[in-house]
Amino acid sequence: MRIDILTLFPDTVNAVLHESIIGRAAKKGIVEINCVQIRDYTDNKQNQVDDYPYGGGYGCVMMAQPLKACLDAVLESAGERRRRVIYLSPQGQPYTQETAKRLKRDYDHLVLVCGHYEGVDERFIEACVDEEISLGDFVLTGGEIAAMAVADSVCRLVPGVLADEACYTGESHWDGLLEYPQYTRPELWEGRAVPEVLLQGDHEKVERWRRKQQFKRTRDKRPDLFEKLALTDKEDRALLAELEKEASRTPLTEPLACRPAEEADLPALMAIVRDAQASLKKHRVDQWQDGYPREENLRFDLERGECFVLLHGQEIAGFFTLSTREEAGYAAITDGKWTEGMAYCVLHRAAVAQKYRGGEMAAFLMKCVERQAREYGLRCIRTDTHKKNKPMQSLLRENGYRYRGNILVKVNEGHDPARQAYEKILKK
Ligand SMILES: C[S@@+](CC[C@H](N)C(=O)[O-])C[C@H]1O[C@@H](n2cnc3c(N)ncnc32)[C@H](O)[C@@H]1O
Repeated sequence: MRIDILTLFPDTVNAVLHESIIGRAAKKGIVEINCVQIRDYTDNKQNQVDDYPYGGGYGCVMMAQPLKACLDAVLESAGERRRRVIYLSPQGQPYTQETAKRLKRDYDHLVLVCGHYEGVDERFIEACVDEEISLGDFVLTGGEIAAMAVADSVCRLVPGVLADEACYTGESHWDGLLEYPQYTRPELWEGRAVPEVLLQGDHEKVERWRRKQQFKRTRDKRPDLFEKLALTDKEDRALLAELEKEASRTPLTEPLACRPAEEADLPALMAIVRDAQASLKKHRVDQWQDGYPREENLRFDLERGECFVLLHGQEIAGFFTLSTREEAGYAAITDGKWTEGMAYCVLHRAAVAQKYRGGEMAAFLMKCVERQAREYGLRCIRTDTHKKNKPMQSLLRENGYRYRGNILVKVNEGHDPARQAYEKILKK
């Protein structure tokens, strides 16, 4: 790719484009960038390049003659190529990554003409310019900044300029999306941690997280781009659906807290239970479908100080019971085994209110469970869930619980007693 920039300020442009990545590519001969002084092509003794506008008005207009002579010299030296003469102008089409792609794909010689003052004589544009490009809907003093932007963005698409094609195909605007957030060392900076998923070494999970972040960022920062997305990929559509679901959740704007449940909380807890029962029923999960847990179960828990409520500000957003009693049904585990020789507590009867489901509240619940287990002086937490209760299984796995085998729980006749058993051993 050869780029000639016609300018009254070649030193300024050279200083920028012959530095760093593009500068190194030019040195290696992967791209050729020339800055040509328009003033060298005047046919008057004073080397005058501009004059007063016909009809009056402020400022001066660049004359057609030096521009045309300069352009002719450049075209002659370049010879026959797939060429495009571009005038950088606030009246041109706004520049985008798509334009950069097109220029790189369709041409191997770009001539970028930089205006100054009030602009250039219209007849030069009519006679010599193939295309006008604008950097955006604002006015610059000269075309140099715009020309540098075009040259830089086109050159980085030329093979060999960047280390790998993936360096630019994964970046913002390549496929209509913004890039995912990036982090580097240290892991914790001023109390802000790098997202956990990026530290686990699971490449597939990282890719999925990044793609989802691209959708989220584009939706939040550039709704105009987001609206134009036409996704055909099944995975992408699934990620987008997940995002939409998350967006419909209640944002956690109030402080979160956890405290032991009280008798007065029971109506609110039972409302959450009924809601959870209905949701499980809707998803055909035969768990909590025989009337369990009843108010008397929760009262029993709270009287023992083992039921806890989660608060979003003053509102009860969820609850859980963490029991220190041995669970009879857990003794007969099949298809696996529990960790032996550890005293354990059991996470029973946990739910969050519908409006908080699937979001940070569930993660908060899991954190509170761990904190409470440590308060009890126990490092082993066991729990169980129905095989069709996928959201609970995901939540457990995401929070470090391991599937240990299968157990049976007591349920009323006609309901499924089979449950999957999970366990987490807390670090010392
Ligand atoms: C002050 S401007 C002239 C603006 C012109 N009088 C107008 O109103 O359309 C001087 C030069 O800066 C360059 N320029 C200004 N704004 C630009 C933009 N948004 N994109 C690209 N080039 C721009 C053009 O080369 C232009 O000739």
